[in-house]
Amino acid sequence: MSLKVIQWATGGVGRAAIEGIIAHPDLELVGCWVHSEDKAGRDVGTICGLDPTGVTASNDIDALVEMAADCVMYSPIMADPSLVSRLLASGKNVVTPLNWFYPGQRDVADLEQACRTGNSSLHGSGIHPGGITERFPLMVSALSSAITHVRAEEFSDIRTYGAPAVISDIMLFGKTPEQAAASPMVKFLGAGFMQSMDMVATTLGFAVDPEAITRHEVAVATRNIPSPIGDIAPGLVAAQRFTWQYTVAGEPVITVRVNWFMGEENLEPAWTFGAEGERFEVEVTGDPPAHVTFHGWHPESIAAGLERNPGIVATANHCVSAIPYVCAADTGIRTYLDLPMIAGRAAPGLSK
Ligand SMILES: NC(=O)c1ccc[n+]([C@@H]2O[C@H](COP(=O)([O-])OP(=O)(O)OC[C@H]3O[C@@H](n4cnc5c(N)ncnc54)[C@H](OP(=O)(O)O)[C@@H]3O)[C@@H](O)[C@H]2O)c1
Repeated sequence: MSLKVIQWATGGVGRAAIEGIIAHPDLELVGCWVHSEDKAGRDVGTICGLDPTGVTASNDIDALVEMAADCVMYSPIMADPSLVSRLLASGKNVVTPLNWFYPGQRDVADLEQACRTGNSSLHGSGIHPGGITERFPLMVSALSSAITHVRAEEFSDIRTYGAPAVISDIMLFGKTPEQAAASPMVKFLGAGFMQSMDMVATTLGFAVDPEAITRHEVAVATRNIPSPIGDIAPGLVAAQRFTWQYTVAGEPVITVRVNWFMGEENLEPAWTFGAEGERFEVEVTGDPPAHVTFHGWHPESIAAGLERNPGIVATANHCVSAIPYVCAADTGIRTYLDLPMIAGRAAPGLSK
């Protein structure tokens, strides 16, 4: 019998999740919440540029909370923990790329209570965080002994990110270095990455120093750089590097880094992605060391990325693939440490 799934929001992740739910042999799309008025009442398939699904998009939160379903794939732009609590208390499991990767004691009492009320579970997934920064390093770490350092790093060209308001107003590209120094991304991204670092530190048993290191570096344009927010003029921020680090007695033991560049030309300092180009990396320094590079999650071209970004699709798939495991899990917030190995499924036509 299929597990009934409601998709919450139809942005990039949401549209890819709908494709993933439709392709998954164990899942059935039964509902969809949309933010924009003009999407409400339309067939969900049509909103996603797919064949009609027979499922009508709705902006009626109460009706969707009441709807019978096994799981909600929750991917709006910002998380509303009180709404997530309502969904959990209504008996629906929730999978999301927004938060709760490994929350520990961070403000989760209400969510845990909602899980108990609804006999449901909550799982945070994704790629960065939600994959590259904790699940994959921990998997790879099992092949090393005497581990001294774990690194997870993203190298991405932000020209393929089709959200100009976010790039300009939140990421603070195209601003002065002084303005960018106040970027809320350090706190916003750090809230997720610190959970990943906690999962790695706790599982590997590092006796980390109490304060994590956070670093935010910028590179400026040396000539006009075309970007989704128009030309970035010389002297303004055109590349950013964020680093979060745990140390033991001052020596780095866990490093998470994000390199976001508007291309690789005309930057000062002259940062580049190196010969391997855009990628995600996981490195475990131990005996023996391991170095894993993930390609395929960056688009072939800027135009292709703006149309359908593989990193966004991978994020959605990681969440969707988790749904059967989360629905079968014990009540509560369930991280990768609690769930069995999560896997994808064979393509329709190739499956049993
Ligand atoms: N963990 C990871 O690796 C990872 C990776 C990628 C993304 N994410 C996170 O996933 C979330 C979704 O990303 P995305 O790429 O799908 O973003 P997106 O394309 O910008 O879509 C955002 C969605 O939120 C809706 N929305 C807009 N304003 C809203 C509001 N005030 N309240 C509720 N919903 C609102 C939009 O509705 P309309 O379509 O109707 O405008 C849209 O469906 C983001 O929080 C992002 O940070 C996580």
